[in-house]
Amino acid sequence: MNTKKLANRVAVITGAGGGLGAECARVLASHGAKIVVADINSEAGLLVAEQIIKLGGEAISIPTDVSQETSVQAMVSAAMAHFGRIDILYNNAAILSAEQRAGDRDVINMDVDAWDRAMAVNLRGAMLCSKHCIPHMITLGKGSVINVTSGLGTMGDLTLSAYAASKAALIMLAKSIAAQYGKQGVRANALLIGLAPAENAHATMPQQLLDIIRDNHLTPELGTPKQIADAAAFLASDESSFVTGSVLSVDGGFCSHTPSFAATRELFAQMGSNTM
Ligand SMILES: NC(=O)c1ccc[n+]([C@@H]2O[C@H](COP(=O)([O-])OP(=O)(O)OC[C@H]3O[C@@H](n4cnc5c(N)ncnc54)[C@H](O)[C@@H]3O)[C@@H](O)[C@H]2O)c1
Repeated sequence: MNTKKLANRVAVITGAGGGLGAECARVLASHGAKIVVADINSEAGLLVAEQIIKLGGEAISIPTDVSQETSVQAMVSAAMAHFGRIDILYNNAAILSAEQRAGDRDVINMDVDAWDRAMAVNLRGAMLCSKHCIPHMITLGKGSVINVTSGLGTMGDLTLSAYAASKAALIMLAKSIAAQYGKQGVRANALLIGLAPAENAHATMPQQLLDIIRDNHLTPELGTPKQIADAAAFLASDESSFVTGSVLSVDGGFCSHTPSFAATRELFAQMGSNTM
């Protein structure tokens, strides 16, 4: 008998072709879940599915544009045809390309197309995947929806206004789903992630910016994709069966301290009064 905590469960993971989504796919598979890799990048999605299969897991790549309802419907139909059930939905896909970041700025300088793209992929995508996966969870009498959010979804910052608004709304979407389908066994939570860059992502962020952000995490280092995926596995599994409508912060304390934390710490160090 397979006693792994996600044995026989089927997990749809959006944006699992790379970054944190890919690691989440590998970790959930290591706990016995069968994985649907739903990414717009079909080549990347296929590689992740192949990697899981090579490691002895079960996975299928279904190229999906989460912002399009027809594409989401087709993905869910293909997942059901292949695996026959959907237990877990990890709404992780987000549009984070350099072009997107260049347009998604402060409000006065916002490129309206970038605003619409962020809402379409990050937020509408999660709603569409929930809309089409949840009925299958209700049939099972059980399910877990996890919306990936960020500190930027709870605190103001200088740029990425559309990304931040979409991430704030994902918290509310999780609460709505938790309220609407909880009595039918479906749980929904938001996973609030601190900076946990995949290996290749460090190079795309200036070192100075990485240092500022690291100084505002309470842990010695930034997060790792594995640390995020471990929390996702917890929310996906029965270990969290009494957790719903919540925001689980896996952010190294980034959202937990006073805004003056990093500067005060530096001042105390200069004054020689930082004895901790
Ligand atoms: N990496 C971090 O430190 C961090 C911090 C906070 C929150 N997050 C959140 O974690 C999630 C993953 O972030 P990441 O750093 O791995 O990003 P990433 O850019 O590496 O991965 C995003 C994935 O989404 C896919 N994608 C983009 N548009 C899509 C669409 N329309 N349909 C389907 N798939 C699509 C991309 O192809 C890509 O594989 C995002 O929701 C992000 O907001 C990440």
